[in-house]
Amino acid sequence: MKSATGMPAALPPDVPALDPAVLDDAIGRAARVLHGFFAAKPRRALQRPLAKMLRDPALTAPGRAAVARLSYGTACLWRRLGDGGAPTGPVSETACRARVTACAALDDPFSAPAPGVLDVETLAAGASFPPAMARALMTADDPWAAAWAYNRPGPMCLRVRAVDDVEPLAADIERAGLGTVLGRGRVSAAALFVARGFNVYAHDPTLRRRYEIQDEGSQVIVDATAAAPGERVLDFCAGRGGKSIGLADRLAGAGEVVAWDIDPARRAHLRRRAAAAGAAVTVWDEVDATAHGSFDVVLVDAPCSAFGTVRRGPDLKWRLDEAALSAFPSVQAAILAQARRFVRPGGRLVYATCTYRPEENDGVARAFSKAAPGLAPEAPWPVTTPGAIGGTLWPHVSFTDGFYIARWRALAGRAAMA
Ligand SMILES: C[S@@+](CC[C@H](N)C(=O)[O-])C[C@H]1O[C@@H](n2cnc3c(N)ncnc32)[C@H](O)[C@@H]1O
Repeated sequence: MKSATGMPAALPPDVPALDPAVLDDAIGRAARVLHGFFAAKPRRALQRPLAKMLRDPALTAPGRAAVARLSYGTACLWRRLGDGGAPTGPVSETACRARVTACAALDDPFSAPAPGVLDVETLAAGASFPPAMARALMTADDPWAAAWAYNRPGPMCLRVRAVDDVEPLAADIERAGLGTVLGRGRVSAAALFVARGFNVYAHDPTLRRRYEIQDEGSQVIVDATAAAPGERVLDFCAGRGGKSIGLADRLAGAGEVVAWDIDPARRAHLRRRAAAAGAAVTVWDEVDATAHGSFDVVLVDAPCSAFGTVRRGPDLKWRLDEAALSAFPSVQAAILAQARRFVRPGGRLVYATCTYRPEENDGVARAFSKAAPGLAPEAPWPVTTPGAIGGTLWPHVSFTDGFYIARWRALAGRAAMA
């Protein structure tokens, strides 16, 4: 297995040169995809018009890959490829085609040009971000590096479900010719990177059960709970269960994972997914108010602006409802307050988001700390901002998606009264 160091260099672009006619056809198709994306009101994920386009049986495999790459690449770099303006309304197909053509002419659309920042506007236009995202990026130690790390497509990362199975699984993947293993993660022991083209559906069920697809940063959040065999763990915003399964794996059959999410469709998905993975996760049908104080660990993976996921879906840049951003902190604070009631004295409460927007991160964590006595902050991830409660994962530093993590310990006995 290769070493994980130098991971980004091993990532795309890895696209072979295309026949000019195939490229021209792909440019036209990507332009139509983007035109459809910008025309929708409200804008929905680029994946929708793209998936429709990719279903065309007339497309060859290289053509299909080119349409996907050009659609995402152009969406990612939209401002930089044109006049620097952010797209506010519908965009003509001709204008889309001009940008897609400019994107196709770049050797590597995802690599950063020489740094040239630094104010919000220069960063927004130069790295192609909407103002709200650029403002938040300015809190990074190196905003230009952070912005361009976010512009680079995220690597494909597996979470190996048993830490001692990382090397054996890597060997089995290579031996079976299922894909190229790039190396282990840097910040989570169970992370394993594989090259694009790794087909998760082609594997036999036994092998498939040995890993989950999960960004290394999400794995760090599960690590940050320090959940251990024998403990009772509550995943309070469990969504479709990516972290619940990770928590169950940490308990290795001893203890209990309970999952809750306000969205019934997600709870149903979680049940199916956990069953398929053979993970023991109890899913609540409603929040059980009688279970106060009975969990060793409570994880709040809160709903948020999701800025930290933009390297997996660059269209997020142009779907953003900036007016809606201000609502997140109060929602996050309310969920934290509700979840806190389930932490037993001496237990841990972990707050995480997938954004680098400080108002939703340390802004919420600080206010919560003040308002919730009996909790002592204990950062599970290096805190680089002086006085901050939690730490932020940045893609240019840890090669993960962007996350924030804070953790508190509920004080027991007299300490809780002090
Ligand atoms: C960031 S997602 C969680 C992702 C999930 N932990 C995972 O790893 O796949 C946030 C989740 O919070 C849920 N949510 C929103 N408001 C909530 C509330 N008041 N109580 C519980 N869950 C809530 C949403 O339905 C959403 O699934």
